Amino acid sequence: MTEFDPIDTLRPHIRDLPSYEAIPDSSAIAKQYGIANKDILRLDGNENPFGPSPLALEALQSEYEAERYTDVNQTLLRESLQKFLNVPSENIVAGAGSDELIDLIYRMWIQPGDRIVTCGPTFGMYAFDAAIYQAEFININRKMDWSIDENALLHEAENAKLVILATPNNPTGNSLQPALVEKLLKTKALIVLDEAYIEFSQSSSMVSIASSHPSLIVLRTFSKWAGLAGLRIGYAVAHRRIIEAFMKTKQPYNVSAPSVAAAIASLKDIEELDRRASVLTAERNRVFSVLEKISWLKPFQSETNFLLVRTIDRNAKEISDKLRREGIFIRTYSEDNIKDCIRISMGTSLQNDRVIEALSNIER
Ligand SMILES: Cc1ncc(COP(=O)(O)O)c(C=O)c1O
Repeated sequence: MTEFDPIDTLRPHIRDLPSYEAIPDSSAIAKQYGIANKDILRLDGNENPFGPSPLALEALQSEYEAERYTDVNQTLLRESLQKFLNVPSENIVAGAGSDELIDLIYRMWIQPGDRIVTCGPTFGMYAFDAAIYQAEFININRKMDWSIDENALLHEAENAKLVILATPNNPTGNSLQPALVEKLLKTKALIVLDEAYIEFSQSSSMVSIASSHPSLIVLRTFSKWAGLAGLRIGYAVAHRRIIEAFMKTKQPYNVSAPSVAAAIASLKDIEELDRRASVLTAERNRVFSVLEKISWLKPFQSETNFLLVRTIDRNAKEISDKLRREGIFIRTYSEDNIKDCIRISMGTSLQNDRVIEALSNIER
């Protein structure tokens, strides 16, 4: 009798799916290089070096019932978000990170062969999920200064089911022009704006437009500004009818009890989180000016908590490997237009000094 092979019966497009290029497990690599865990500096995931706010840490000690399922309607969290965003709670839904919400959006709108348009380089999850849902994924490359080719985008948007754009964008760090959003909203595509880094930017959020517009969804997250990446909690703001569709489609208990407690507590600690965000943006500007003076580095202006830096006449992966041997983790890429770039998430001032020193020590 031949043995059952589960892979044989997988849906073919899942069998052929490339793995998501996630950030590596730093402790395994540190072990490989013989580095103590305490000396590891993770600046590869755009996480928040300050962690959760004091009130969120307190809530995580006691303010939830681990033995109970969470509220399917997410009532308390949506009410807290209503106050924070000044948008009615009926226009808000929470998810296990914006990642879950991206997956849900595709699950709700995308049939095999539907077109999804983005402007890369950008966040890898958009393409990863597109492959799972068998969408036709169209990437319009950004220009050299990372601005968007508006005509090409508007042209493709006309025949697309969905346009998804990060603003500010990961990894390029720049924001969309509001005038372009207005034009996109006149097309027949569903427009998804991912504002994961908006709290580090001077640009205004589009949440209030999203609450009343039938074709706009804005995604936000507690991972970056609120330092809750490991708890997996984000939210979408959209028209009431879109939120109703989310509420019907999502897993009933999609957000965990500790995540909800920490998110609600974070929204009581806005001043502290905003103060930390401004420390990070000041650090970003300081690191930018230092790196700019290193002849083989070209940092790009950023409205986020990270910097994308071109390594001139250097191999970015080799630079990253050199830093790894000192316990410093940064991000590199395989896409053509950024394969000579490194991305450095902002840490505390001392942590950033360590990266600056490591980069300065790499000889010309
Ligand atoms: C643009 C963008 N959107 C979404 C996410 C993921 O956010 P979450 O942790 O809420 O799933 C990231 C994470 O790096 C990101 O860069």
